[in-house]
Amino acid sequence: MSRPRSARHLAPLSGGTPAHAGKVWLVGAGPGDPELLTLKAARALAAADVVVHDRLVPEAILDLARPDARRLYVGKRKSNHSLPQDDICALLVALAGEGQTVVRLKGGDPFVFGRGGEELIACLEAGVACEVVPGITAGLAAAAAVGAPLTHRGLAQAVTLATGHAAPEGRAPDLDWVSLARPNHTVVFYMAVSTAGTIAERLIAAGRAPGTPVAVVENASLPGQRSRLATLATLPEAVADLDGPAVLIVGEAAGVAERLAPARDSLRAAALAALAGEGPALGARRRGA
Ligand SMILES: C[S@@+](CC[C@H](N)C(=O)[O-])C[C@H]1O[C@@H](n2cnc3c(N)ncnc32)[C@H](O)[C@@H]1O
Repeated sequence: MSRPRSARHLAPLSGGTPAHAGKVWLVGAGPGDPELLTLKAARALAAADVVVHDRLVPEAILDLARPDARRLYVGKRKSNHSLPQDDICALLVALAGEGQTVVRLKGGDPFVFGRGGEELIACLEAGVACEVVPGITAGLAAAAAVGAPLTHRGLAQAVTLATGHAAPEGRAPDLDWVSLARPNHTVVFYMAVSTAGTIAERLIAAGRAPGTPVAVVENASLPGQRSRLATLATLPEAVADLDGPAVLIVGEAAGVAERLAPARDSLRAAALAALAGEGPALGARRRGA
């Protein structure tokens, strides 16, 4: 008799490697809310001997590891790397070489601006077993948080994830602005708060309308989440006071968030009023209560 599907899918995390061999799991921790972690990521964490993690991974997620698991912080903040990438790759290979089960835990998804590709290559080329567990990337969490669909019938038929990071600092990101300026196309910019003004200028210069909607979401899925609905023309003001990790969702479909904002606000106000005992929740009123 075949095993139930769920059990088969969660079956041994060390599958395919001898019991004594180490292994590296490149795990996406998602955008921050521990409930947005995958079941597989939680299981990999619980099985880890050592967790090598970044700055954007919250304590509540790290706490899913065994209390005796080692935690090694190798995080990065902009250009201030606490450990160079080559050293991180070498560390993963060395730990697995000692026979340890290593979870390399990264914010969001390891393969979206996470340098997971370099770590996968380093492990496999060194003969170390390595598997990737995807995570919810910040752009998806941000879109869900503000109700800005990334694709939407008639408004967006394509999505691009782009970096707003510019090196050296202060320059414009090196991107194909003409293709990013195509209409009916959503562009999600990561690491783009400090270059938001330049991004808006370049997109407008390449033909994107100044009134193109932009949803800005900081700390998506976390208690400190903040969002702004702007346009390319007003983007510099919209990001002026942000200081946490944020994404910019640029495109016609982001305007859906704006359209829905009044309805969301009135539902939230009704729910808060009901909580405060000031009257029935909107749902109850609609049912004629
Ligand atoms: C080095 S990239 C890592 C992206 C990550 N691998 C992912 O898939 O989300 C860091 C950038 O991700 C974005 N980011 C990460 N967490 C975020 C969050 N909770 N809310 C908004 N943006 C976030 C920000 O643009 C930040 O500058």
